[in-house]
Amino acid sequence: MKQYLKHDPWKIIEEGFSPEYNRISESVFSLGNGRMGQRATFEEDYSGDTHQGSYVAGVYYPDKTRVGWWKNGYPEYFAKVLNAPSWIDIKITIDGEVLDLAKGKVASFRRELDMQSGLLTRTFTLTMNSGKQVSVEAKRFCSMADGEVGAIRYTITPLNFSGQIEIELPVDADVVNKDSNYDEKFWLEIYKAATAEHAMVIAETKKTAFQVCTGMTYSVLQNKTAVQVEGNAFTKEKYASVAFTLNVKAQEEVCIEKLAVVLSSENYKKENLAGACEKKLVNVKKEGFSKLFEAHKTNWLKRWEGADITIEGDIAAQQGIRFNIFQLMQTYTGEDERLNIGPKGFTGEKYGGSTYWDTEAYCLPFYLGTAEEKVARNLLVYRHKHLQRAIENAAKLGFTNGAALYPMVTMNGEECHNEWEITFEEIHRNGAIAYGIYDYIRYTGDESYLVQYGLEVLIAISRFWAQRVNWSADKHKYVMLGVTGPNEYENNVNNNWYTNLLAVWTLEYTQQALESVKRQDQKAFETLAKRISFNESEETSKWMDIRTNIYLPEDTIRGVFLQQDGFLDKELLTVSQLRKEDRPLNQKWSWDRILRSCFIKQADVLQGMYFFEERFTHDELKRNFDFYEPMTVHESSLSPCVHVILASVLGYKEKAYEMYLRTSRLDLDDYNNDTEDGCHITSMAGTWMSVVKGFGGMRVRDGKLHFNPFIPDQWKSYSFKLEFRGRVIQVNVSKGSTDIKVISGDPLEIIVGEEKALA
Ligand code: BGC
Repeated sequence: MKQYLKHDPWKIIEEGFSPEYNRISESVFSLGNGRMGQRATFEEDYSGDTHQGSYVAGVYYPDKTRVGWWKNGYPEYFAKVLNAPSWIDIKITIDGEVLDLAKGKVASFRRELDMQSGLLTRTFTLTMNSGKQVSVEAKRFCSMADGEVGAIRYTITPLNFSGQIEIELPVDADVVNKDSNYDEKFWLEIYKAATAEHAMVIAETKKTAFQVCTGMTYSVLQNKTAVQVEGNAFTKEKYASVAFTLNVKAQEEVCIEKLAVVLSSENYKKENLAGACEKKLVNVKKEGFSKLFEAHKTNWLKRWEGADITIEGDIAAQQGIRFNIFQLMQTYTGEDERLNIGPKGFTGEKYGGSTYWDTEAYCLPFYLGTAEEKVARNLLVYRHKHLQRAIENAAKLGFTNGAALYPMVTMNGEECHNEWEITFEEIHRNGAIAYGIYDYIRYTGDESYLVQYGLEVLIAISRFWAQRVNWSADKHKYVMLGVTGPNEYENNVNNNWYTNLLAVWTLEYTQQALESVKRQDQKAFETLAKRISFNESEETSKWMDIRTNIYLPEDTIRGVFLQQDGFLDKELLTVSQLRKEDRPLNQKWSWDRILRSCFIKQADVLQGMYFFEERFTHDELKRNFDFYEPMTVHESSLSPCVHVILASVLGYKEKAYEMYLRTSRLDLDDYNNDTEDGCHITSMAGTWMSVVKGFGGMRVRDGKLHFNPFIPDQWKSYSFKLEFRGRVIQVNVSKGSTDIKVISGDPLEIIVGEEKALA
């Protein structure tokens, strides 16, 4: 855990230059706008430790898998979100000396991310090795108003000298992925051009043939007056640039606006990319940094209006929640059903930027609560689009009859996770995709989704479960062998309670969905049944048999559900018995030791109790929480939020608060010692759930909104808004009072605690 960032309600602030934390800050101060994103690497050259990262949504590379011993069914590749051509560089040379924060003496340094307006500002004063002193202010944003535009205003002031500054403004497509399996470069050059006015490179990904056109234009102000410079255009392989030299006087500032346009062949015909980019560059130049920023800021303010959560009395908690919301909003805007939310968003390479079960299990509620219905719907449609691939994926493993196994990790619907324990065994993800459909309909009431897309997905997933279980003559029950549950610190276990439960729940929900579709549109049902050769009576009676006879391991003496058959054979220790030096286990212990231990990476049985809360009594929840939580190391970012929600139900206020801080400040305080790889974007949605579902106790039951709020002792008040079925609900909770009202849309019956009221 590190605490070098200042607490502030709207800003993330780093004071002083700490090269050892630079990669962490590059992740934390990342910017994005749903279409592209950028780690907070420096504009000028930096020879110190850094991890360059520019990303374009949906653009990936299938990097050939690296495994020791190939097994049938392994995915051929691991999809990687690509480090895309860089548009941010501003190379500065002063009287022949390169400006570089790693060379010389940094007198002051400050990085500030204003989350309200999505603006990153970095200021520093450097005494270069020659003794020349300069101060720099760099401001940049990725426009929320136009997802294809990024802008930088870079101001440099010579403090103690007059001289010559050479400035170079490149577009650089000669970039690499640090996680490349074979040290390969993934981009090919298609086109490049540079004039005195602008520079542009079109690069194409190998194998996937995505093209990205990155262009930049610029303007220069000296002493606040626009100047015409003589731009010297030049190109080299995968690189196009404009350079110019200025004579500067001491204390007179030079300001460069570098405006970038990033276009993807996902949205343009390849042959039109260069033309469209050129046109757009002319437009952005006309607008200039200030106007572009105004539009960007207005867009952010509007988003905050609906999605902000305020916390009074606790700045660390306030900053934490806003940071999480900020990152979520800049990662996925929901306009494009081909896109999804990678666990690291646009903040790093880890996890390949691909889609995981995180989307349905954690992110969906955030977008349901803070955006119009279509945003969450697009996330579901994304999976429907991948259904055929999920069926092929299951077929590769030997499943038949249209059974679908959605991938653990995917970019285009194909499985691309290359650890066998996860690819073949962590099949609970299939249930999360079914649960996502249920969750969406529960919240929105939009049953028509089942007719159009949902039922087809549910039947395919149910077909998978029906084949994945087998009858145990010994137990006289259906069992599910050789799985990995959400707790990845156990592999190849039998009868993971969570997976078995999710499987039979899917069978049950598919049956209900089937009835709903028949009611809504019998003809549509018949057409679907014919198209997918669905033998209703035969298949559903098998499902019913499995539902009735599933084995769900349980310890009746302790009164707890068992994470898996062999769990009680383990030495049952608690996290409090671990030494500090042992944590985090995944960095300190051998995998063998982890697998044999009782320590739990993330909610597993408790994940099931969270999903299906209404099926369990308060006592059952308490017994299971009390049993499992002390063994949980929360080494997945997805863990603490589930515990906040359940601890809140149980009235464990302190625990709920402890877990809340952990989830909301996970990256700001680098709890898991891994923020340098990127921020934990998907778990940020869990932070939102912690407030809304945890402290606020929000649930939707039978189409009605329920709240059961409490306020952590450390807070004076908190408030949030929710989009719900065409209305906006405002929730204010302070010590001793709760105020919930509809602030837009028709009145609504809302249940607070046990009381019903019209709001
Ligand atoms: C977690 C998974 C999760 C993945 C991506 C892993 O550490 O155990 O549940 O899907 O990270 O966030």
